[in-house]
Amino acid sequence: MSNQIDHLLTENRRFAPSPEFAADAVATAELYAQADADREAFWAEQARALHWHTPFTQVLDWSNPPFAQWFADGELNVAYNCLDRHVEAGNGDRVALLWEGEPGDSRRVTYAELTDEVKRVANVLTGLGVEAGDRVAIYLPMIPEAIAAMLAVARLGAIHSVIFGGFSADSLRTRIDDAGAKVVITSDGGYRKGRVSPLKPAVDQALADRGNGPQATVEHVLVVRRTENEVGWTEGRDLWWHDAVAEASADHTAQPFPAENPLFILYTSGTTGKPKGILHTSGGYLTQAAFTNRVVHDIHSETDVFWCTADIGWITGHSYVTYGPLANGATQVLYEGTPDAPHPGRWWELVEKYGVTILYTAPTAIRSFMKLGREIPNRFDLSSLRLLGSVGEPINPEAWMWYRHVIGADATPIVDTWWQTETGSIMVSALPGVTETKPGSAQVPIPGISIDVVEDAGEHVGNGNGGLLVITKPWPSMLRGIWGDPDRFVETYWEKFQDKGYYFAGDGARLDDDGDIWFLGRVDDVMNVSGHRLSTTEIESALVGNEAVAEAAVVGASDETTGQAVVAFVIVKQSYLNEHSPEGLADGLRKWVGEQIGPIARPRDVYIVGELPKTRSGKIMRRLLRDVAEGREVGDTTTLADTAVMSVISAQVK
Ligand code: PRX
Repeated sequence: MSNQIDHLLTENRRFAPSPEFAADAVATAELYAQADADREAFWAEQARALHWHTPFTQVLDWSNPPFAQWFADGELNVAYNCLDRHVEAGNGDRVALLWEGEPGDSRRVTYAELTDEVKRVANVLTGLGVEAGDRVAIYLPMIPEAIAAMLAVARLGAIHSVIFGGFSADSLRTRIDDAGAKVVITSDGGYRKGRVSPLKPAVDQALADRGNGPQATVEHVLVVRRTENEVGWTEGRDLWWHDAVAEASADHTAQPFPAENPLFILYTSGTTGKPKGILHTSGGYLTQAAFTNRVVHDIHSETDVFWCTADIGWITGHSYVTYGPLANGATQVLYEGTPDAPHPGRWWELVEKYGVTILYTAPTAIRSFMKLGREIPNRFDLSSLRLLGSVGEPINPEAWMWYRHVIGADATPIVDTWWQTETGSIMVSALPGVTETKPGSAQVPIPGISIDVVEDAGEHVGNGNGGLLVITKPWPSMLRGIWGDPDRFVETYWEKFQDKGYYFAGDGARLDDDGDIWFLGRVDDVMNVSGHRLSTTEIESALVGNEAVAEAAVVGASDETTGQAVVAFVIVKQSYLNEHSPEGLADGLRKWVGEQIGPIARPRDVYIVGELPKTRSGKIMRRLLRDVAEGREVGDTTTLADTAVMSVISAQVK
């Protein structure tokens, strides 16, 4: 990390907004002044951009920290805000989704059509017994039905839990059970890398594995037909989406729900093995998702074609595919497949085909395109692009410059946006048209957000210093808790700076001489691989769950393309060592983790070692393993119980 910091310290390129961009930008410098003058009035004004069935009279209730309530006496319907109100305003013919399947099939879905579909799906779900407060699990590829499913659940005041299609049956089962889902919405499959990737079998397996205990809450599985591969069928439980939706009435009046009605649970990795169900509610979440989408992505809904490349299985897909853009009545591209199928220029082909004006993606994608070379994007007309965004992990200045130069023709502003599943929407970012940008820095809290970088005792570090990132005041789209575990919510985020009442984000950051924020990565046992959050403990638990493994330690090692990569050090039981080659064992364990958690968690390297470095109290010193994984000189080993162990491990790794 010290190399990285040195490098960042010497980064002094600056890009001022062009007068043309600034003249037409949604964001203005006055927003900061307005928010500073009266923060709550500022957020109330942003909330009033939504339709409230019952207007709120209270803004923030922070009488029981850290449990915040925003706009608590107001009532709204989230789906109505994303759909009906645009149709009622005469914009029903505007395209909501420009959808492209991986094989090249495509669909244009207007706001009127999406509203009709969501009303029908809401009626189907009501028919299946789904009521306000019930949980519905969604396990779908990136198809329009995925968005319709989320909005139909929201329309009923029920709670969705979207589970990324890359997760295994096992991960799916844990999440379904934790949330106590009543219905699962899935599909036969989706297209990934030119092949059908089936989804329904994982759902069948997840539901079969769990028996009929009190946790077996799933009553129905609604199945979208996408790939037409054969699927297993449980009569009475399973039903086809296309049959049910066609038969359902398209009349459905959206009912108002309180602003604090739960909207969704989204599972994310923490520092323990058990994923946390991050809970978001309605009014505050939608307010900030829509506001940030307008001012940070500079959405002009009549003319822009927005494309956020995230999957709806992640928070970025929730806030900047489903809720933000649709609340703003924007037109967006939705793409089912991978960036390199059927050819490595696929994304750029889509930018050209749909005239994408705003592209929002992750540094890991940018770095893989960099590796492939500029010849590929250069083959396409990218002149429609006028703004680029980055999210999910720190973007190194080199990737930032490449993004601007090759994709943005040296002209488009870049917004590097920092936020988390927990924050619900963007918290730190330049405002396009306002901020002079710096490659590699996420820069400044957005208007209405209070952030600081502090040392361990919670004191501000001052410009030019590094420390821990904290959020010092409650914000509208903040998580309201961890599903079923209020204690863990308090412990994880609020205990560290209890006296100050600060939210501890888990990120290291540094303030430069201008007070701009540079993110330095996680300070806990959370890894960030290709912008996906993984916990070291979760992968270690999966590894020790394999019968060959005696002990395992996992670290996130820096990786040129994926940001970090999973590297595992594993002690294998002697009997297995006698019978298998280390290469075979390592390979088998990589696959095993992929099956247990999902392919994203598969370690890049598995090293079979004889021992792990431990302190006298038995704590594994992952810092030293990270040195080995990153090919560095091993750091200070004096606190190890056995100081010789690192040279043995280094030798085994080579
Ligand atoms: O470490 C930070 C990193 O991603 C973490 C949050 O991950 P997740 O909840 O999966 O949400 C990702 C999408 C919002 C953060 O704690 N992170 C996210 N964006 C940035 C970032 N690190 C640096 N710069 C960013 N722009």
